[in-house]
Amino acid sequence: MILVTGATGQIGGETARLLQAEGRAVRALVRDTASAAAAALAAAGSEVVQGDQARPETLVAALAGVEAVLVVSVNDDRQVEREGNVIAAAAAAGARRVVKISALGTAAGSPISILGMHSAIEERLAASGLEWTSLRPGSFMQNFLRYADSVKAAGVFYGCQGDAPVALIDTRDVAAVAARCLVDGGHAGQVYELSGPEALTYAEAAATLATASGRPVAYVDVPPAAARQGMVDAGLPPWLADDLVGLAALFEGPLGRQTTPVVADVTGRPGRTFAAFAREHASLFRA
Ligand SMILES: NC(=O)c1ccc[n+]([C@@H]2O[C@H](COP(=O)([O-])OP(=O)(O)OC[C@H]3O[C@@H](n4cnc5c(N)ncnc54)[C@H](OP(=O)(O)O)[C@@H]3O)[C@@H](O)[C@H]2O)c1
Repeated sequence: MILVTGATGQIGGETARLLQAEGRAVRALVRDTASAAAAALAAAGSEVVQGDQARPETLVAALAGVEAVLVVSVNDDRQVEREGNVIAAAAAAGARRVVKISALGTAAGSPISILGMHSAIEERLAASGLEWTSLRPGSFMQNFLRYADSVKAAGVFYGCQGDAPVALIDTRDVAAVAARCLVDGGHAGQVYELSGPEALTYAEAAATLATASGRPVAYVDVPPAAARQGMVDAGLPPWLADDLVGLAALFEGPLGRQTTPVVADVTGRPGRTFAAFAREHASLFRA
């Protein structure tokens, strides 16, 4: 049995689907069993269990009889505590293997708090006695779905990525690597940096979306302070806006543009291109 946390989310949901498709027994941890996402997981064959990573007492039953666990959750100030709870519960239940979704650039003491939190969780993994693998993907292609409304309305999207190429990755490829690491041996103790197959600038990404959707799309670069203010005005907590601006600055360097062979090496097929992603999601960007 494989326990997938974050199962209603992008990576957890796709990991559960991939594991089910190859006939694995999957248990999906969800907070709300009445949600449409939970119903879809059940319909596809997952055993759906109610549990909250923030409440360790809800994790005991979820981990009973589990061999491997996918650990993933959202970025907030309780992420270390939450994912730490899952790791501790996995160890207590006698699970063998944990795969964690971390992030590119993760480092102890990073000024970008998301990256410091992932580092603290990786430290808990290393001390857990479990077989563990940490996946550190770069920036997700799916982040561009947040721009769909702006593109639909005005044919533009805004950011502070400058003209740096970034090796965006499709979350489905992160999930494909996670599924293999959960099932196969040979990945214990590995920290894998994951990227898409190519690096492209946001202006090139805009042109790719334009080609796919058949409408003009422009990227407008704004100063980091203005981007931060826009995110805060849109309701993001100030610390998260600081982190996202910090990540954009970090990814302007060599880390953001590096391509790694991990997706192809681990899954046996190349990662999805941004052009393919744009074609699949083109209708979301049309007026
Ligand atoms: N965006 C990027 O470019 C990027 C790049 C690299 C790494 N990452 C990392 O990717 C991770 C997010 O992955 P994702 O995009 O797949 O996430 P996502 O789609 O936002 O889904 C998050 C999942 O976490 C679950 N969750 C939140 N709080 C929970 C709790 N207390 N108990 C149980 N489940 C809880 C949510 O379930 P509910 O349905 O209950 O809310 C949801 O299933 C983050 O750690 C982030 O740092 C992101």
